Amino acid sequence: MAERLDAQQWGDWWRNRALTSFHGHFQHNYDGSLRLFWENRFAELPLGAAILDLATGNGALALLAAEYSAQHDRDYRIIGIDYAAIQPDSLKKTHPLIEQITFLANTPMENTGLEDASQDLVMSQFGFEYGDMPATLKEIRRLLKPGGCFTAMVHHRDSAVLEQAREALAQIKRCEKSGVAETATALVELQQKLARKGALSDRDQQQARRLHQSLGTELEKLNRYARQLKDPSHVLMFTRSIMTLFDRRNAARISPEQRLDALARLTEENRSYRLRMKDLRAAAFGDDDFQSLKTTLVQKGFSIPEIAPQEYAGRHFCNIVSTCLS
Ligand SMILES: C[S@@+](CC[C@H](N)C(=O)[O-])C[C@H]1O[C@@H](n2cnc3c(N)ncnc32)[C@H](O)[C@@H]1O
Repeated sequence: MAERLDAQQWGDWWRNRALTSFHGHFQHNYDGSLRLFWENRFAELPLGAAILDLATGNGALALLAAEYSAQHDRDYRIIGIDYAAIQPDSLKKTHPLIEQITFLANTPMENTGLEDASQDLVMSQFGFEYGDMPATLKEIRRLLKPGGCFTAMVHHRDSAVLEQAREALAQIKRCEKSGVAETATALVELQQKLARKGALSDRDQQQARRLHQSLGTELEKLNRYARQLKDPSHVLMFTRSIMTLFDRRNAARISPEQRLDALARLTEENRSYRLRMKDLRAAAFGDDDFQSLKTTLVQKGFSIPEIAPQEYAGRHFCNIVSTCLS
C-alpha cells in the first residue's frame, strides 16, 4: 500500500479545521522554542519583506509571520501555498490575522507559478521534505531575490516526533490486528436483529455468546498490552471507545445504529491515522538526505547551509536548515 498521502487526503485533513498536522498538540499554534526560533528569523527581515511559506497547510507558520509582522509593524507580505485544498478561512474566527495572508491552494511547491526573484524568505515547517527535493530547490532558487534566504524545519528520522509516530503505528496495528472492531460490529448487528425481530434463533444466540466472549478476551489482551507501554494513549482511546459502546449503563441511550456508526468512525479514524503516520515516516529525512540537501544547495549557489537539531520540551524535535543565496 502507498506510504504517502496525496493532495486529496491532505485536503480531508485540513477540512477538520486543524491549525497544524499534529493531532491533539499545538492547538493554538507552534509555541515555545519553535515560535522563538521563527520570531528571531522574522526579526532579521527588512520592512515589507516578501515571505513564502511552502506546504503551508492551514497556515500555522504563515500565521506566526503575520503575528510577528502585526506586533512589530513590519508590513510583511506573506503567501502560503499548498498542493491540497486547504481551508485556512475556517480558522478566521480564532485567528483573525489569517486574513492578512494570501493563500494559494492546489499549488505544488515544485511549480508555484509565482514571479522570479520575488521573495526575501522562502520558509517551511514540516512541508519541504514532503515534496520532490531537486524540483523544489530549483523553484526556491528561481523565487528568491538576490541575497534571499531559505529556512526550513524538517523532520528527522531520529527525532522524538518520529519515535512517537513509530509507537503510534505499532499501537494502531495492534488494535487493528485484534479484530475487536469487527467482532464488536458483528455483535451489534445481532443486537440490531434482536431489536427488529424481538428474538434471536438458537444459532444466533450461540454466535452472540461467542462474539461477546471473544470481545472480552481481546479487549483484555489489549489492556494488558497497554499496561506495558510508556504512553498507551492510542490503545486506551480505542479500548475505551469500544467499552463505552457496550457499557450496560448506556444500553438504553445508544441505539444499535448509533453503535454501528461509532464503530465505522473509529475504524476510519484508525485507518487515516495509520496512513498519516506512514506518510510522516516516509517523508522524514535521515543524515544522508540532509547531506544531499546540503550538496545540492551549494551547487545551486547558496551559502553552505547550517543544519542543526532543534529541541522542543527538552527533546530532539526536528532539524533546521538555514541558508541564503550568496
Ligand atoms: C505535515 S503538513 C505541514 C503543514 C504546515 N506547514 C504545518 O506546519 O502545519 C505537510 C503539508 O505538505 C503539503 N504538501 C505535500 N506535498 C506537497 C507538494 N508537493 N507541494 C505543496 N504542498 C505539499 C500537504 O498538503 C500538507 O499540507
